[in-house]
Amino acid sequence: MADVADFEQKLKEVADRVTVALDQLIPPASGPEANLMRAMRHAALANGKRMRPFFVIETGAMFGASDKSLLRTAAALECVHCYSLVHDDLPCMDDDDFRRGQLTVHKAFDEATAVLAGDGLLTLAFKILASNETHDDPAIRVMLIERLADASGARGMVGGQMIDMLEEDSPRDLNTITRMQRLKTGALISYAVESAAIIGHAREAERNALAGFANDLGLAYQIADDILDAEGDEAVAGKPLRTDHVAGKANFVTLLGVDGARQRVRLLAAQAKEHLAIFRDKAAVLLHSVDYVLDRPR
Ligand code: IPE
Ligand code: IPE
Ligand code: MG
Ligand code: MG
Ligand code: MG
Repeated sequence: MADVADFEQKLKEVADRVTVALDQLIPPASGPEANLMRAMRHAALANGKRMRPFFVIETGAMFGASDKSLLRTAAALECVHCYSLVHDDLPCMDDDDFRRGQLTVHKAFDEATAVLAGDGLLTLAFKILASNETHDDPAIRVMLIERLADASGARGMVGGQMIDMLEEDSPRDLNTITRMQRLKTGALISYAVESAAIIGHAREAERNALAGFANDLGLAYQIADDILDAEGDEAVAGKPLRTDHVAGKANFVTLLGVDGARQRVRLLAAQAKEHLAIFRDKAAVLLHSVDYVLDRPR
């Protein structure tokens, strides 16, 4: 389908621009701490899908927002995402050896370097947003920073990761799992569209529509990842699979089965798209992205 090829081309262009930006933003390896920068680069410059940056840039495009502001915000968000993956893979968390088709940071370097590389990426994200290169209006910069802190922190991604680490005998009903997924994955995806709405001066109705869109998309994104874990191809995914099962983790697949989880993804995808109705034709790329993103394994 020509449509899919166009879309993949767009995605690749964004991914390449983000990788170039990250390469420029992460300090070069030098001094006795050089391994730290090497580890940050190993994590951030690897071959990720860059879906969160894509949502920042394509949402911002609907509002005609500045390319530079969007790209730097996208890079900051990707720094937080990469840091979350470095820590997620540590032996004390998911204990995984491969990520994005290469060794995880604690395997390629060591655990202490992986913890510090994650710290370095997290703090770099806020430095990027605080710079007047990102936006000339300090009020906008503060808003971007505050919202990223919320999305990343105890009431966002980190909180979700905490629920994910709970012992097997803790409550694992659908409500708990839904909340966990919304936090650990949904919060950063919500930030992608929200940050673009902030930069693009979206009206309240538009911001609400985007929040609804991201809420459904973020949940569906993690359920698709859980389906991938259950039945994907490791060579394509670039990371070990079946690990949730081995670790005895609860997720939508363990609760609903693969078919039930897939059904849920379809429902959320349809709901996500409905939220975009107010943008009419302008939402074409975002609409397309819903199917692409959820049609894993990738
Ligand atoms: C992996 O995220 C972790 C989840 C929250 C599902 P992605 O599937 O976006 O991974 P990369 O960035 O492409 O490696
Ligand atoms: C991780 O979820 C979400 C994060 C916040 C990092 P998973 O543990 O399922 O992600 P993968 O499968 O390792 O990429
Ligand atoms: Mg995990
Ligand atoms: Mg993991
Ligand atoms: Mg997973």
